[in-house]
Amino acid sequence: MTFTLNWAILGAGNISSQFVFDLLLNNERATGYHHIIESIGCSSKEKGEEFIKSNNIVLANNYLTSPTTQTYEEIYKNPDIDVVYIGTPHTFHKEQAINCLNNGKHVLVEKPITVNKKEAEEIFEAAKKNNKFCMEAVWTRFFPTIEILKTKVYKEHVIGDVHRLFADLSYQCDVKSLPVTSRVRDRKLAAGSLLDIGIYPITYSRILLDDKVGSKASKFEQKSFLTIDKDDLVDHLCSIIIKYENGRQALLTSSELVDGPKAYVRLEGTKGWVEMYSDNPARAKHFKIFDKSGKEIFEYKDDSGYNGFIYEANAVGNDIKAGKLENEIMPHDESLLVMGLMDQIREENGLKYDQD
Ligand SMILES: NC(=O)c1ccc[n+]([C@@H]2O[C@H](COP(=O)([O-])OP(=O)(O)OC[C@H]3O[C@@H](n4cnc5c(N)ncnc54)[C@H](OP(=O)(O)O)[C@@H]3O)[C@@H](O)[C@H]2O)c1
Repeated sequence: MTFTLNWAILGAGNISSQFVFDLLLNNERATGYHHIIESIGCSSKEKGEEFIKSNNIVLANNYLTSPTTQTYEEIYKNPDIDVVYIGTPHTFHKEQAINCLNNGKHVLVEKPITVNKKEAEEIFEAAKKNNKFCMEAVWTRFFPTIEILKTKVYKEHVIGDVHRLFADLSYQCDVKSLPVTSRVRDRKLAAGSLLDIGIYPITYSRILLDDKVGSKASKFEQKSFLTIDKDDLVDHLCSIIIKYENGRQALLTSSELVDGPKAYVRLEGTKGWVEMYSDNPARAKHFKIFDKSGKEIFEYKDDSGYNGFIYEANAVGNDIKAGKLENEIMPHDESLLVMGLMDQIREENGLKYDQD
């Protein structure tokens, strides 16, 4: 049984390329999912055509379809599109997602879904009003790795009782050498490490310390520090401590000023610990488990060749096929919980954006 999903990609930039790579690889492998790229929504025709060329979107890997290059407005009105992947900076997500939904399209919106919780609520209201599927693209949650890791830790109890998590997403990118209009520095684009990358350590604490999501989530408290850059007026260094009601704690960090540790996740229990490794900590592909003596007792590696976006894309396909309006692994109220937490962290550290 095959299932076809006609995609439009909104924004011909960095993350859209990585997302498209996985759809095309899936099509080459002739799986049960036909992810057809119908259209590229782009600020200019030339840029859209260059995107098609540089990502090698050809008839052979796109089910004999040549994507069109369209303006964003044309994408909203295009009747051939089922679902729009929104890969633009967060400040544009609210308006673009609502335009898609009001024109009868399902949407997968890159993380963070918006700049704050209030904006995310507006998107979800539009999704409900239009009876369309909507999900924040928290791809990390959908890797098979996560299910395997959670089975080892919480069903087989290989590290005993879990007490503490360290999770980091940091990379040194010589911030001051970037133009002030860069997505990493520009406050008008809601720059800052918390929203851009700190959301991933938060996500690991949500995945690895709590089995529930959204309104059913276990209660927790948080304390945090953001170091606000005096020129950019956004954070490039962020530390958060979370304490769940059962006493478990998470120490979560993000930064664009320094590189993070090789083991970007360390989950500690009474009988051992888990380490996760990746060139990009959002990409949950590899972990090892050690016993108390430091002996490696288990290793898992995802050698699929995908970047990893295919797992969320297939989940979107399954939900749309089933007529669902939200996904049970990443439902609307989990996005609202995380956005609300990041609102609180920004508020206690005096970081405001125009959208607040
Ligand atoms: N899932 C992940 O691991 C991951 C990784 C990186 C980023 N992201 C998220 O993906 C989103 C995009 O990030 P990115 O790194 O792909 O961004 P990007 O390459 O800088 O920009 C993506 C596209 O957004 C539009 N755009 C960029 N700057 C703009 C501006 N100042 N005004 C108007 N439009 C602008 C452009 O669209 P046109 O092509 O139409 O000109 C651009 O091609 C962000 O929300 C980010 O948080 C997610």
